[in-house]
Amino acid sequence: MTQSLADMRRDYTRDGLAEAQAPGEPFALFHQWFADAVNTEQLPVEANAMTLATVDADGRPHCRVLLLKALDAHGFTFFTNYESAKGQHLAANPFAAMTFFWPALERQVRIEGRVEKVSAKESDDYYQVRPLGSRLGAWASPQSRVIADRTELEDMVKATQARFSDTQPHCPEHWGGYRLLPERIEFWQGRASRLHDRLNYRLVDGQWVRERLAP
Ligand SMILES: Cc1cc2nc3c(=O)[nH]c(=O)nc-3n(C[C@H](O)[C@H](O)[C@H](O)COP(=O)(O)O)c2cc1C
Repeated sequence: MTQSLADMRRDYTRDGLAEAQAPGEPFALFHQWFADAVNTEQLPVEANAMTLATVDADGRPHCRVLLLKALDAHGFTFFTNYESAKGQHLAANPFAAMTFFWPALERQVRIEGRVEKVSAKESDDYYQVRPLGSRLGAWASPQSRVIADRTELEDMVKATQARFSDTQPHCPEHWGGYRLLPERIEFWQGRASRLHDRLNYRLVDGQWVRERLAP
């Protein structure tokens, strides 16, 4: 007999997040929490996995898991197919939200803001360090389109391998990075009895304002 959903609950007691520990801007805290996640053995290898939400032209939300592949002072970068469903959503509505959940640390980070394409050079630089199979896949797979069966995908991969049999594949125009430029970053630390700590950073006239939110 599986446990009933109503009975599935866990109390969070591992840590707290006090204002005194939180710097005036959120990037340093994200770096610190990300390092904690990478160094926590119980966590899955992909500490950089996050859920990205986009909104389509009809105002309907969609979310999926992606990997964060770069972080700089401007924002959070992931790579994908620009013609995919998410690429079409971002073309129609350039705002998105990403959520990291690190269960072993009882932590969540929520990031929201405008999304822009990274430069072609930045996409190409990352494309070139990917394994060959992934580089060919970026050419072969029309991400998010309906295909007949697995064989169609394998045939597209074979055709791509043949096309690049004696040259190295270059980064396709339909593939590259997006950078989310955060306007809000919220750090959530689970606490006992659901009285969690939530520190929220909001960008106001170019300055980060920090505030505590009720759990
Ligand atoms: C752990 C994990 C990591 C993923 N990383 C990526 C990624 O970095 N880029 C990507 O395009 N899709 C990635 N995917 C696949 C996406 O979840 C999704 O299926 C794909 O991007 C198509 O989404 P869309 O139809 O909403 O555009 C990943 C999936 C999982 C489960």
